[in-house]
Amino acid sequence: MTDQTASVSKLEQNVSRLRCISCGAVCESAGPNFRCSGCGDLLEVSYPGRESWGLSAAGLKTLWRQRRTSRLAVDESGVWRFRELLPSLRDWHEVITLREGNTPVYELPGCAPIAGVERLYAKHQGMNPTGSFKDTGMTVAASFAREAGFRWVGCASTGNTSASMAAYGARGGMRSLVLIPEGKISWGKLSQALDYGAVTCQLRTDFDGCLRVLNQVVQRMPVYLLNSVNPYRLEGQKTAAIELLEQFDWQVPNHVIVPGGNLGNSSALGKAFLEMKELGFIASLPKISIIQAQGANPLVRCVREHGGKELVPVQAETMATAIRIGNPASWKKAVRVLQATDGTVEQVTEVEIALAKAEIGADGVGCEPASAVTLAGLKKLVKQGFVKPAESIVLILTGHLLKDPEFTLKFHRGDLFAGTEASLAAQRQRAPIVLDASVDAVLATLEMADKAGSKT
Ligand code: F0G
Repeated sequence: MTDQTASVSKLEQNVSRLRCISCGAVCESAGPNFRCSGCGDLLEVSYPGRESWGLSAAGLKTLWRQRRTSRLAVDESGVWRFRELLPSLRDWHEVITLREGNTPVYELPGCAPIAGVERLYAKHQGMNPTGSFKDTGMTVAASFAREAGFRWVGCASTGNTSASMAAYGARGGMRSLVLIPEGKISWGKLSQALDYGAVTCQLRTDFDGCLRVLNQVVQRMPVYLLNSVNPYRLEGQKTAAIELLEQFDWQVPNHVIVPGGNLGNSSALGKAFLEMKELGFIASLPKISIIQAQGANPLVRCVREHGGKELVPVQAETMATAIRIGNPASWKKAVRVLQATDGTVEQVTEVEIALAKAEIGADGVGCEPASAVTLAGLKKLVKQGFVKPAESIVLILTGHLLKDPEFTLKFHRGDLFAGTEASLAAQRQRAPIVLDASVDAVLATLEMADKAGSKT
């Protein structure tokens, strides 16, 4: 065995602990709600003594790159490829994986001047197997559920978590219980949960109500909770930040801009950057900024009105249904990330979200509405001078365009807005054109579109 393989196998047996984010208590075994048994706050995964495990940042960078040519499932996964920074399973080869991660970074040449910056990048987490970033966390937490012997997994969801959980549950031979707010999630996401075989309950409440119910269900039945309060999920979601740094040749962007809902993802990405700095992979941190819809803005209020010390739940309302959340579980973790990285918060209106979504679409990339808050927020941060035009900026696009085709169709048909908002939205609308099956009619349309295009 070479020195390097010896160190790797030592690392692969790494020991992680669950630690309370408030009182610091170490929990030997988490209860069904993943709360500290002492003070009731959230838990996080910590890695005591990791600095002394022996592999250099340079060694890990090489090893992770080498794994990209491997045909082992655990190496093909863009999450487990970074397993030295993840909690360890008894057997790495028992992971439940759909080859998640490995998502592209795209340049957005059309969006950059619209936002007022020189260059703009998007890491598209919607290019995961079930079409959202949730897969990167689900592969880890679902694998832990199976290792612990659970037959059932469960989540409350605005749609993407349930789609992802149902897929990984099915791959892992476990049954899935999905609680979603009735009528408030996109058909695309609901249909995924059904096809992957989940028991899907549409509750007459909102996301926050679904989570309240689930928290009680898991105390009465052995159902493994897969919401983002599950700290193992956030460990998987960390890998998007590691992969991003690798894609940037370990050059740290100035800004990373993330949508905020239940605030698990911003917390996970922040944890990753902080750990990467601690371990010597990078020398500085990006500023992580979190954008919310104006109608679902509890974090924005928490920071602006209460200095990040208190979160007052709001009644959430937004067409970006993925982030229609009024009482985000991970707000304390997110505030910590904002403070540690000097990031900020911003809120955007419904029409700003819809326009930004169409602008990202016009760059040939596309995303779901919740992801587009990042571009809408960036425009404001540039105007405020928080983001400078020459800085490097990465938007985290969290979900695929096809997750919510109803929103997209309604937008382009002009059915989403009225009054002045409708005239703002009209700049980007491309409604389908119904014609007779005639060559002349198509050519006339083409000519008109060509003239209109050359004027813009
Ligand atoms: N973007 C998309 C597409 C989402 O689905 C979510 C959350 C977020 C952003 C916000 O991420 O909650 O970590 O701050 N969706 C969850 C769900 C709540 O149930 O699918 P967050």
